Amino acid sequence: MQFIVRPSMVFEQSDPVNKCSFIHINDELIRKSLEGLNTIEETGKGLMEFVTKYRSITMIPPPEPQSIQIHKLFHYIQNLFKEDCIESDVSFITKVEPDNLEVLADEGQIQKVLINLVKNSLEALKEVKTKEIELSARENGENRIQIQVRDNGIGIPYEKLEDIFIPFYTTKERGSGIGLSLSRQIVRLNGGSIKVFSIPGKETIFTLIL
Ligand SMILES: Nc1ncnc2c1ncn2[C@@H]1O[C@H](COP(=O)(O)OP(=O)(O)O)[C@@H](O)[C@H]1O
Ligand SMILES: [Mg+2]
Repeated sequence: MQFIVRPSMVFEQSDPVNKCSFIHINDELIRKSLEGLNTIEETGKGLMEFVTKYRSITMIPPPEPQSIQIHKLFHYIQNLFKEDCIESDVSFITKVEPDNLEVLADEGQIQKVLINLVKNSLEALKEVKTKEIELSARENGENRIQIQVRDNGIGIPYEKLEDIFIPFYTTKERGSGIGLSLSRQIVRLNGGSIKVFSIPGKETIFTLIL
């Protein structure tokens, strides 16, 4: 259906017989209505996005643990970020001690966690001159596996260290603020924990114990 409306098409103000009123339809009214519809559309989209993100945090499927070869896992992550690291001039190193170290966890889920952490590291390195990311793993002496993601990016102020795990907390213009809360959830479901240590301007280390 198509409406053609001439500029300032004017209807009568009111109709005393039928006791109803009319409105002026002109370009301004149409423009405002379209603006209103756009706002409704944007708000709807925003709400849908919120629901999708909220679901991703609250509806993580139960982990399916398997024995993961950590050097293979690290190789996969390193490969995934290869282009980004070349483009941004980031040196990305991995260390696994011993070489054949394994961990029992849901591989897909742990991949997701490491992807979130490395992505954050890359974003924290933007303003830094010599950019480094280090992914390391070792046994922690209590029969548990410790995986660390370290970067020498901008860091996190001490008073913000717990806030960063709160859903939707972000300091980025286009951040979603769910990467870390989702990661913490995943790690907990896998029977582990995730902690952060940071010295602003020097280094930030996320430690997973699995
Ligand atoms: N490696 C890091 N270095 C500095 N700040 C970080 C790092 N990782 C996370 N952060 C801080 O934690 C916040 C939350 O991270 P995250 O949950 O992944 O959401 P997002 O990346 O969308 O902001 C970030 O906005 C940033 O302020
Ligand atoms: Mg993130």
